Amino acid sequence: MRILGIETSCDETGVAVIDAEHGLLSHALYSQVALHAEYGGVVPELASRDHIRKLLPLVRQALDEADTAAPDLTGIAYTSGPGLLGALLVGAGVARSLAWAWGLPAVGVHHMEGHLLAPLLGDEPPEFPFLALLVSGGHTMLVDVQGVGRYRILGESLDDAAGEAFDKTAKLLGLGYPGGPALAALAEQGDPARFSFPRPMTDRPGLDFSFSGLKTRALTTLREARTEQDRADVARAFEEAVVDTLVIKCLRAVQETGAERLVVAGGVGANRRLRERLRAAVGAEGASVHYPPFEFCTDNGAMIALAGLMRFQAGAGEDLTIRARARWNLAQG
Ligand code: KG4
Ligand code: ZN
Repeated sequence: MRILGIETSCDETGVAVIDAEHGLLSHALYSQVALHAEYGGVVPELASRDHIRKLLPLVRQALDEADTAAPDLTGIAYTSGPGLLGALLVGAGVARSLAWAWGLPAVGVHHMEGHLLAPLLGDEPPEFPFLALLVSGGHTMLVDVQGVGRYRILGESLDDAAGEAFDKTAKLLGLGYPGGPALAALAEQGDPARFSFPRPMTDRPGLDFSFSGLKTRALTTLREARTEQDRADVARAFEEAVVDTLVIKCLRAVQETGAERLVVAGGVGANRRLRERLRAAVGAEGASVHYPPFEFCTDNGAMIALAGLMRFQAGAGEDLTIRARARWNLAQG
């Protein structure tokens, strides 16, 4: 079984070819970050147009690098949601059209399912069941993963996603887009003892998150900020608060479910401080922490190809409708 995977839900165009026996054969990625940088965030219409420009060349490239022609493929997987509707429509439309032209089945994949299965692309893939912390620009969730398609959402953000909070706070700090890595770099220079930000929703039971208050806290603290050091101290306090909150909730989820493995996926999973703290805290509970290979932490086509492969292996089939869903609950399948 050999699957072509297509990701276009936000600002990366990703295409990959995966084979059930030989693993990932190729993956091609085009990031629109430079295109959106001057606007300080993703401009949906520009994103859609750029996906249109880049998608077919990337499909060609991925197929060439995988030494694969259309007749070698078993099916096509595409991100059907959630994400920017126009961007999703490009991937869904192209995937469905190629599938129809090549006489193949196609399957729409949930973007977050791609993220949570991405650690299986690594050299030491975690076994099911596991707990997944999904922390991206659009989502923050803790998911109990029993197997492919068997997901129970234990908690999620009631307002801003963790990555979104990083991006918005980075903007307040005058940093470029995407803000997460830039804020983390500035925080390195910051004094963790200077300001103390709250750990939202950790003083009550439950596994939901709320990050929008931290951004407001950063804004009010920054009003007094004069120097570069002040800004770094705010960045540090913000990062400490987000990381600590995520670690507290992960630990709680591990304790409540008795999970032996925690999988961390999504762009914020690239954060070094989060990785260090999780390894220490979750390790102390006797559970292991798993990450996707670094290049598959952020959006990519490989995770969609993998999720598609696993869906096809489980017997997935769909009619010819082009499905793009801006909102889509992971647990509803
Ligand atoms: O998963 P992803 O590539 O795209 C979405 O589906 O959203 O995640 C992107 C998010 C952005 O908000 C970005 O600022 C954040 O991940 N991010 C980070 C770091 N690297 C990326 N946040 C904190 N620290 C980082 N090192
Ligand atoms: Zn993503």
